[in-house]
Amino acid sequence: MKTFLGMQRFLAGLTLATAAGFFALWVIEPAVHAAGSGQAAVAPAAPAHAATPAEAGGLLFQQNCTFCHGRDAMGGETGPDLTRSQLVLGDKDGSKISEVIRNGRIEKKMPPFAFSDQQLASLVAFIRERVTAAAAMNGKRRGVEVADLQTGNAESGKQYFDGAGGCSKCHSPTGDLAGIATRFQGLRLEERMLYPRDVKSKVTVTLPNGQTVAGTLAYLDEFTVGLRDANDTYRSWATANVKFKVDSPVEAHAEQFPKYTDADIHNLMAYLQTLR
Ligand code: HEC
Ligand code: HEC
Repeated sequence: MKTFLGMQRFLAGLTLATAAGFFALWVIEPAVHAAGSGQAAVAPAAPAHAATPAEAGGLLFQQNCTFCHGRDAMGGETGPDLTRSQLVLGDKDGSKISEVIRNGRIEKKMPPFAFSDQQLASLVAFIRERVTAAAAMNGKRRGVEVADLQTGNAESGKQYFDGAGGCSKCHSPTGDLAGIATRFQGLRLEERMLYPRDVKSKVTVTLPNGQTVAGTLAYLDEFTVGLRDANDTYRSWATANVKFKVDSPVEAHAEQFPKYTDADIHNLMAYLQTLR
């Protein structure tokens, strides 16, 4: 059965994937099994299937990505430090990271990989874990210690909010953020502040006849742009035939992320916790 499955993968690899993708498919199974049996000598044997997504992703990463991006994703011979990548930090749902892995960056010599959706999700989980670990190493612990949440100064946080942080360009303590500390507490609030996830982007599409259609971005790749209009109807166009502009204010959070100091985050948290 196992061999049969292996064979199917082998064939799928041959027909569907590039040489690099095929290589990825080929090495996955041994890598996952090695985790169960290889670690048994030093740790209680955790069955391979009990591994967290981040652990599974770590194994895939070691096999396929370490060579270029380094063991801990912080950069290697030829690949950049993924823990400082704007693309990684700004990827709310993992789709941007997955897209790079699937398509590669051929012109920069990163090959495309034919991973399953589940494998992509585990790679994303691993890369995110490395981002958190790297932030801690820089002395900028972002969202890991509950005790830190109580150490900030609310007045300094307010100043940062209205000043250097630029938060008041988009938010108001008496408007959208009123009661935020009632809706989210502790680490959940900090996470919400640092990387708000699942936020929909707006898009405006200009049709060839000059008419414009605006809505919530529902789909976007190289070839197709899709939105949900005011009536919640899905509409899509070939990107070649229309002009479109995506408006994603939440990206400001990804841009802000590398700029925060530890104190900024603690002070902002202290301030946000006054908004009840
Ligand atoms: C042969 C070397 C190589 C391998 C193998 C490789 N990469 Fe890359 N990767 C690169 C290079 C070079 C870039 C930078 C491309 C650029 O500057 O646009 C990159 C870019 C990326 C990016 C986008 C970073 C950004 O900020 O734009 C991600 C995410 C990524 N790689 C993840 C992976 C993962 C996950 C794997 C393993 C499945 C992997 N890479 C394997 C060389 C590699
Ligand atoms: C360019 C616009 C922009 C800027 C600047 C900006 N944000 Fe946001 N922020 C957003 C958007 C958009 C969302 C998503 C709102 C939603 O969930 O609908 C968001 C979400 C949030 C949330 C979660 C709100 C909720 O109700 O879940 C918090 C907290 C937050 N931002 C704090 C900040 C702080 C603190 C700063 C400054 C360091 C900041 N933001 C800067 C656009 C911005």
